[in-house]
Amino acid sequence: MNWEYAPAPESRAIVDLQPSYGLFIDGEFVDPGDGSAFKTVNPATEEVLAEVAAAGPADVDRAVEAARRAQHETWGPMSGAERAKYLFRVARILQERSRELAVLESLDNGKPIRESRDIDVPLSAAYFFYYAGWADKLEYAGFGPSPQPIGVAGQIIPWNFPLLMAAWKLAPALAAGNTSVLKPAETTPLTALVLAEIFQEAGLPPGVVNVVTGAGATGAALVAHPGVAKIAFTGSTDVGKGIQRELAGTGKRLTLELGGKGANIVFEDAPLDQAIEGIVNGIYFNQGHVCCAGSRLLVQESIAELVVEKLKARLQTLRLGDPLDKNTDIGAINSPVQLEKITELAAAGVAEGAERWTSPCALPEHGFWFPPTIFTDVSPSHRIAREEIFGPVLSVLTFRTPEEAVMKANNTPYGLSAGIWTEKGSRILWMAQQLRAGVVWANTFNRFDPTSPFGGYRESGFGREGGRHGLEAYLDV
Ligand code: NAI
Ligand code: MG
Repeated sequence: MNWEYAPAPESRAIVDLQPSYGLFIDGEFVDPGDGSAFKTVNPATEEVLAEVAAAGPADVDRAVEAARRAQHETWGPMSGAERAKYLFRVARILQERSRELAVLESLDNGKPIRESRDIDVPLSAAYFFYYAGWADKLEYAGFGPSPQPIGVAGQIIPWNFPLLMAAWKLAPALAAGNTSVLKPAETTPLTALVLAEIFQEAGLPPGVVNVVTGAGATGAALVAHPGVAKIAFTGSTDVGKGIQRELAGTGKRLTLELGGKGANIVFEDAPLDQAIEGIVNGIYFNQGHVCCAGSRLLVQESIAELVVEKLKARLQTLRLGDPLDKNTDIGAINSPVQLEKITELAAAGVAEGAERWTSPCALPEHGFWFPPTIFTDVSPSHRIAREEIFGPVLSVLTFRTPEEAVMKANNTPYGLSAGIWTEKGSRILWMAQQLRAGVVWANTFNRFDPTSPFGGYRESGFGREGGRHGLEAYLDV
């Protein structure tokens, strides 16, 4: 029997969208001085949501100056226990406004409300709670008896987890006594601006956090600004490499969280139905717009056919459509540019000889969509096995022995995540030691927790975010 779901749309009435948004500098929303404006759209409908200010270099300069003043005069000298009070307050207001933030995130990003409501927003609050707890204990964090803040952090974030990446960046920086100039991504600026309202509501001293919206040029101005002591960047490997080149020799500190091509490795003794859920969560979560996605499935040859068959059956039950519908599993692709990239790489998969299977689901007429897709007969040299697709596309490869699985998993310029599915504990420990990945999940995938460090090897970047480790990037030790 095939159960149908009646639509269960979340109301968007809770979001009070303004027609236009300014920059958040020194505690106030202000018009850009030398900037311009851009529009942010709902990728599920192509409707324009709001016009947002694009900060020019003089605006970035104002923001850095405000952050520098706040660091010297209020936030830096404040005791850790006092700073913690503000961060706890921010975390609580995030919880109070969680429904509004979830709806706004789904509108601006295209992700299903089920994810923004159950993952992005509660995790964002959890990061603030977690780092609030560290603010008065920094001397016990293992970085020496008197760790000091480093100054103004320039923090550039991507569009795949807009609010959550803001929380990952801001919470440890502020707990450690730094101030910030945050640059959200140009397709998803809105929740960072509501976060700025929350900072006002929490009474955070002016200048402690400044939000400069805009595209790459705004980010570049922030990177180049001499008043910034540290850059934290999450985004594409190309832009990350450019930033690293530019900062070389300047004395500015840098952490990079870039792309990935994570291997999700399934052994024949794995609990298969759980593994299927883990594979789905690994690559179809957030439309595959996940740097640590399990985009390469390495499955033991003996069960490969069965796994692919079960996977196809499961994918046909995923519901694609309106991100605000509580039943939706797969939302919209964030932008036409990203859709084009996914489409181009999928076409390359076919051209290079892999076998494409696409879930037979109807795509909405408007907006940007890509159906869940699986490639089999993939060889390690195919572009779809090497390049980050950042979409709902899984490349399936097979292996026979654990050694071969490790070799294939590590055969990538990236090194962000990996997953292992097996009943055998000793194999999990052995594999985890061999895999060149910053995060290795065992019998689960895409799990995040503020206490756990996250970050990569090689072209996935360097530095850790989350946990005690995440403080180090924001402390002079
Ligand atoms: P991107 O690297 O251009 O954008 C990330 C952030 O960097 C945005 O805020 C953007 O405005 C800013 N930015 C762009 N150019 C800059 C520059 N020269 N200096 C300073 N900041 C700059 O990434 P994009 O174009 O949105 O996505 C391209 C690909 O990157 C994706 O298809 C995906 O493969 C990867 N990506 C990885 C992410 C991750 O979580 N590691 C997140 C987003 C994208
Ligand atoms: Mg948008």
